[in-house]
Amino acid sequence: VTHYRKDYLPPDFLIETVKLKFELDPNATLVSSELMLRRNPQSDGLAQKLFLNGEGLTLKAIFIDDEELTEKDYDIDESGLTLNRVSDRFVLKTCVEIDPANNAALEGLYVSGDKFCTQCEAEGFRKITFYMDRPDVLAEFFVRIEADKTQYPLLLSNGNKLDSGDLSENKHYTEWHDPFLKPCYLFALVAGDLDLLADEFVTHSGRKIALELYVDKGKLDQSQFAMESLKNAMAWDEKRYNLEYDLDLYMIVAVGDFNMGAMENKGLNIFNTKYVLANPATGTDQDFENIESVIGHEYFHNWTGNRVTCRDWFQLSLKEGLTVFRDQQFTEDMRSKAVKRIDDVKVIRSYQFAEDAGPMAHPIRPDAYIEMNNFYTVTVYNKGAEVIRMLHTLLGEEGFQKGMSLYFKRHDGSAATCDDFVAAMSDANQFNLDQFKYWYSQAGTPTLRVDYDYDESNQCLKLHFSQNNAHESASEPYFIPVKLGLVGTKGNQVSFSSAEFGLTNVEEGLIIVTQPNQTVNLEGVSEEVIPSLLRDFTAPVKLDINYSDQQLAYLFANDGNTFNRWDAGQRLMQRFLIDEEDSIKESIAEAFRALLNDQSIDNAFKARCVQIPDLKTLFENDPNGRIDSLIERRKTLKKFLGIALEDTWSRLYNQLHRASDLDLDGVSVANRALKNASLDYMAFSSEQHEAIVIKQFEDAKLMTEELSAFSIANHHELEVASKITQAFYDKWHSEPLVMDKWLAIQASVDSLDTLNRIQTLRHDRVFNIKNPNKVRALFSTFAALNFSQFHRIDGAGYRLIAEAIIEIDEFNNQVAANLAKQFSSAAKLDDARKMHVQQQLKKVIDKENLSKDVFEVVSKTLESI
Ligand code: ARG
Ligand code: ZN
Repeated sequence: VTHYRKDYLPPDFLIETVKLKFELDPNATLVSSELMLRRNPQSDGLAQKLFLNGEGLTLKAIFIDDEELTEKDYDIDESGLTLNRVSDRFVLKTCVEIDPANNAALEGLYVSGDKFCTQCEAEGFRKITFYMDRPDVLAEFFVRIEADKTQYPLLLSNGNKLDSGDLSENKHYTEWHDPFLKPCYLFALVAGDLDLLADEFVTHSGRKIALELYVDKGKLDQSQFAMESLKNAMAWDEKRYNLEYDLDLYMIVAVGDFNMGAMENKGLNIFNTKYVLANPATGTDQDFENIESVIGHEYFHNWTGNRVTCRDWFQLSLKEGLTVFRDQQFTEDMRSKAVKRIDDVKVIRSYQFAEDAGPMAHPIRPDAYIEMNNFYTVTVYNKGAEVIRMLHTLLGEEGFQKGMSLYFKRHDGSAATCDDFVAAMSDANQFNLDQFKYWYSQAGTPTLRVDYDYDESNQCLKLHFSQNNAHESASEPYFIPVKLGLVGTKGNQVSFSSAEFGLTNVEEGLIIVTQPNQTVNLEGVSEEVIPSLLRDFTAPVKLDINYSDQQLAYLFANDGNTFNRWDAGQRLMQRFLIDEEDSIKESIAEAFRALLNDQSIDNAFKARCVQIPDLKTLFENDPNGRIDSLIERRKTLKKFLGIALEDTWSRLYNQLHRASDLDLDGVSVANRALKNASLDYMAFSSEQHEAIVIKQFEDAKLMTEELSAFSIANHHELEVASKITQAFYDKWHSEPLVMDKWLAIQASVDSLDTLNRIQTLRHDRVFNIKNPNKVRALFSTFAALNFSQFHRIDGAGYRLIAEAIIEIDEFNNQVAANLAKQFSSAAKLDDARKMHVQQQLKKVIDKENLSKDVFEVVSKTLESI
C-alpha cells in the first residue's frame, strides 16, 4: 500500500503515559505494557474502535481497565491489534513475547554481539509492543528492565535512572523515567556488559551533565575522540544556537550491527561503531571528521528532532535537513569552512543530483511512500540541508537565529511540519517565503542558465538568467539565491552595484532569481569581467554558463571565492572528460603546476583541486552516460597528469613526508591529504614509487598513511599488492572496522579479476552477510565506486549485486533495499547494459516474499528503464 501525505489525520486517541517492563531473554523476551489512553480532543470524537500497530508479536495477555479481554473484544492481524469497543479514557495492558536473537532485520529490539539494543525509527517500535506507532503521539515513558545480572550488568533506557536492585535467580533490574514527552521512535533500550568512558560537561547555565560512552570490552582506547567530539558539540550548540542540554545524563552506546549511522534516542544515542571507534592507528583522518560530525548530528537532534519532532514521516526533512545543516556548520566552524563546503557539494552533485534524476526522485518533503525506510535519502537529508542553507543565506545569521527562536517558542514539546518551520522563519523576519516553498514540494534539479553581455559605455553588465526543471512535479519557478562576484582581467575583484538588490559598490553580493526568465543589471562595472556566479553553491542547481576554456583556467587561478575556484578546476577537467577536448590536457597540467607551486594556498584546498571528478559525477553530468569512454578518459587524464607533473608530485611528496607528524590538527591532516594524492599520481611515473609505497606502508603509524599505501598498491596493481594485502589482514583481522576498509578497497579495484576476488572475500571469516557494515564494504562499494566492474558489459557485475539483494532480503529488508538503489541510474545506460539490468531486476522482483522495501525500489527502477 502507498501512504499519502495528503491523507494525514490527527490520531483519534492520545497516550498520556507508557509503562513498559522488559524481561530480557535472547529468544523469549516478555514485554509488558500499560498505556493510559484518552480520546484526542482534536479528533472528531466518533471512533468506536482503536487500532494499534504491532508486528511479529506473540500476544500473551490483554486487559482493558483490569478486565481481561475475550476474542470478540479485539482482532489481530499481521499489522496490528484492533480494539473493538473503546471508551473516552482507559488503560490498556498487554503482554507480548518477542525473539530478539533472531531479529536480523535489526529493527525493533535485537541482539548485537552479546548485547540487546534497539532501533525504532521510523516504524520499529511496533516490533516491540502494540502501540500507536506514529511520531505525533507524544507520551511520558516509564521503563523497567529485568535481566540476568552476570550477562547484562548494564540495563539502560531513556531519561533518568530512578531505581535499581537485585532480584532472585541472579537477576537484577533498573527503572528509568524520561520526563520529556516523546514519540515512540525515540525509545531506546540497551543491555549488556560494556566498558564505560565517563566524563562531564558543565552547561552555560552551570548545570553538570554526566556523559557516558559505552563501548565493547577492550575498546576504550578507541573512544576518546568521540567523547571530545561530544563535548565540542555541546559547547558549540550553546554558543551558536544558544541551545543547552536538558537531561542530567547523556549516554552513547556503540554497536557493531546497525542499519545506518546512528540514532538520536532521547538521552541514549545508539551508534554504529563506525562513528564512534577510532584512534590514530585504526582510524583515518576522514574517519575522525565523520565521527565528529555524526556525534554532533545526533547531539543536535536533541533540539531539532526531539524537543520539536515531526508530525508525520513526510516531514522527515524538518528534523533531518535542519540537523544536517547544523552538523555541517559545526564542521565548518571546527575545521575549514571552504573545504567542508566543497566536500558537501560533491555529495549533492554525485549522489543527490543522480537521485533527483532517477526513478526514486522525490521532493525533500515526499508526497507518497510505500516503505518509509526508503526515504532516508540524500534528498531528504542533504538537499534538505541545502534548502535550510538557502534560508540562512537569505536571512543572514541573525535573521536565521531569530527564526529558530520563534520556531522553538511555538513548537517546543510538540510535533511540527515543514510549513511550521518556514512560517517561523518568515514571521520572525517579515520575509515572504511563499515562492521559496516550492523547494519543499517539487522534485528534480533545476538548471540555471546564464548569458551575459557588457555595455562598456554604460558600465553595465547584464546577466540573463533562465531556469528550467525537467521533473514532472516541477511546474513553478524557484526562488534562487545567487551569490556573485566579478573577476577582472588582472586577477582583481571588480566592484558593482545593483539598485534592484540594494547593492552599492560591493565586491560580492546576493541577487535572487525568481522568474523563469530574468535579466539582472549590474551597474558601475568599470571594466570587462568574468562573472563568478553561485559562489559557495548558494542553491542546489546546475549552473549552465558558457565560459571559454581560457576563462575557466583563469577563474581556476584567480577567482576570489575558494569554492568557485575549485569548481572552475572541476569544470575545466570535464572539458576533457565529457566534452572530449583533447587539447585541454596541457592547460590543466599548467593550472595544476601553478596551483601546487603557490605557497599561499592551503594544502587541504590543493588536495581537493587535484582530485579528478569521480565517475558518479561524470556519469550524472554526461547527457549520454557513456560509461566506457568516461572510464577511459579519466584514466588517461590521471596518467597524463601523473607524468606531466612528475617532478612536482615527487617534490611535494618528499617535502610533506619529511615534515609529517602524528597530529590530527587541520594542517597535519591537510599535509597528509596532499601527500597521499601526490603518491597516487607518482605511481604513474616515478621509478621508485613501488619502494616508496612499501616503505610508507611498513613505517606507517597512522591508519591514513597505512591505508593510502595499501590502496595505491591495489589500485595501481603494483606487484607488491598481494603481499601488502596479506600483511594488512594479518595485522588487523580482529578489528572489524579496519577489515571493512580492507574489503572496500579490494572491491573497488578496476580489474577483471575483482568479481572473483569478491567471491573469495565473501567466504572469508571476516565477512558476515548479516552485518550491514560488511555488506556495505563489499557490495555497496563495488556497485557505487567500481564503475568498470559493476557495469561489466557481460552483466556479471549486475548479477552479483542482484543475487546479494535476493539473499539479504530474506533477513534484512532495509539493507537489501539500499543495495537495490544502486541500479537507479539504469535508464541512462546503453541498450546492452540496460537489458542486463532488466534481466537481473526481474529476477529480484519475482522473488517469493519480496519485502515491500525492495519492491518499491525495484518496481520503480524497472518502470524507468
Ligand atoms: N534519525 C537517524 C539520524 O539521522 C537515522 C535514522 C534512520 N532510520 C532509518 N530507518 N533509515 O541520525
Ligand atoms: Zn538525523
